[in-house]
Amino acid sequence: MRILILLSAALFGAACDTAIVIPTAAEFALPPLLAPSSRSALPVGAGEAKIFDLELRNGSTEFLPGSPAATMGINGDFLGPVVVVRRGDEVTLNVKNSIGETSTIHWHGLHIPAEMDGGPHQQIAAGATWSPHFTIDNRAGLYWFHPHLEGVTGRQVYNGLAGLMIIQDDEEAALDLPRDYGVDDFPLIIQDRRIGSDGQLLYMNGMVDHAGMRGENILVNGKKTPPLSVPAQRIRLRILNASNARFYLLGFADNRQFDVIASDGGLLAAPVPRSRLEIGSGERYEVVVDLSDAVGKEIALKSYSSELRNDAFEIDSLDTSDYRIMTLVVGAANASPAGPLPNILSNLPEAAAQSSDKQREFVIAMEVGGVMTINGKTMQMERIDETVRLGSTEVWTLKNRSDAPHPVHIHDVQFRVLSRNGGPPRDYESGWKDTVIVHAGEEVRVRHTFEDFADPDIPYMYHCHILEHEDRGMMGQFLVIE
Ligand code: C2O
Ligand code: CU
Ligand code: CU
Repeated sequence: MRILILLSAALFGAACDTAIVIPTAAEFALPPLLAPSSRSALPVGAGEAKIFDLELRNGSTEFLPGSPAATMGINGDFLGPVVVVRRGDEVTLNVKNSIGETSTIHWHGLHIPAEMDGGPHQQIAAGATWSPHFTIDNRAGLYWFHPHLEGVTGRQVYNGLAGLMIIQDDEEAALDLPRDYGVDDFPLIIQDRRIGSDGQLLYMNGMVDHAGMRGENILVNGKKTPPLSVPAQRIRLRILNASNARFYLLGFADNRQFDVIASDGGLLAAPVPRSRLEIGSGERYEVVVDLSDAVGKEIALKSYSSELRNDAFEIDSLDTSDYRIMTLVVGAANASPAGPLPNILSNLPEAAAQSSDKQREFVIAMEVGGVMTINGKTMQMERIDETVRLGSTEVWTLKNRSDAPHPVHIHDVQFRVLSRNGGPPRDYESGWKDTVIVHAGEEVRVRHTFEDFADPDIPYMYHCHILEHEDRGMMGQFLVIE
């Protein structure tokens, strides 16, 4: 497979436009918090009713100074704002589509009815506004939203359509954790982009790109390897890998330890100390790093991709080297630093299979010619692949029969990882997740319960979160029925 792709690249030319490495940005961009256009108390319950207005737009962005690129953004020119909600809130999100082509907006990680999910079936025509409304019923954590239109998700996300949602709850709020936004709590949306000598984004202009679109330039919140001024104390980084395809093995240049405190679905049971953390497309991790010893230092956050398992489908030189993602510039501590991390973050139920669990198997393959399949099939909008019973608990075995890793994402639910190749999952994968990396040749078992939201007609998706794999058919649909 790899040989075929590289060979055709050599024959037909890998890229028609010259890709360049752009200069490091002068400043870090903190994504703006989106104020609700209306908020009011609910008659019952602890939450509030909140309305948010989002607009998908065409914009322009100077990745290369002086040469604005045509981009897309949500309420802005590239990427979107942060929607902050609390568990129990009843939210309405008015999504206006002003990009001149059909799109959708999917709420990645949220446990919501299928008709509100924003998958390929909830299309928003050019000029239309879609207004899903639902109750926030997820644990505190970092979630995100992005287009999910069949066949063009990769391009629309690449052009800039993605935003963050931060969910808060009482459990997380009761802990002494850094949570002062932009002071000791920073979201990092990590993406890679190929940029042409004219400053424009290049997408899928090389034959190898069908294996997953990569770029030479690493962006954080839309800025190239930016500097971020941080206080010399415990800081929290809420990290989203929103790259179309690239994985990162995160670590600090001075090899300092950090604690992983949360994964896709919120807090882990206890902090997990690490010096490296692998993150695939679509995954989120929150880490706390203590910088109290580092006043006056500059510490690079890097990807140690040379240490990644050698199945990372080496498409370009970044896949096998170590490189900078951004730089922490450490200044004086501020007045109210967070204290030591609590030993216990959350009381998670034990992750274990039971004999009553329904079993399903999903075989992931990349066939000759670049056909991307799950259980031998490519995605068909009219075909339902799996039907699950409301209330049932299932174990899904994800089998990767290809020679590349795939981050497998399941809508509707958060799951627990039971095993990786028969052994335990990695320590930082022990909490709730909605996306899990399955390396080449591996088998990963995940367990989840379909607690709510039956719908006999509208399916949820499961798919590879390498967006070019998804767009080429590595996706299936399941119904939840009574
Ligand atoms: Cu983040 Cu089905 O997607
Ligand atoms: Cu999703
Ligand atoms: Cu894939």
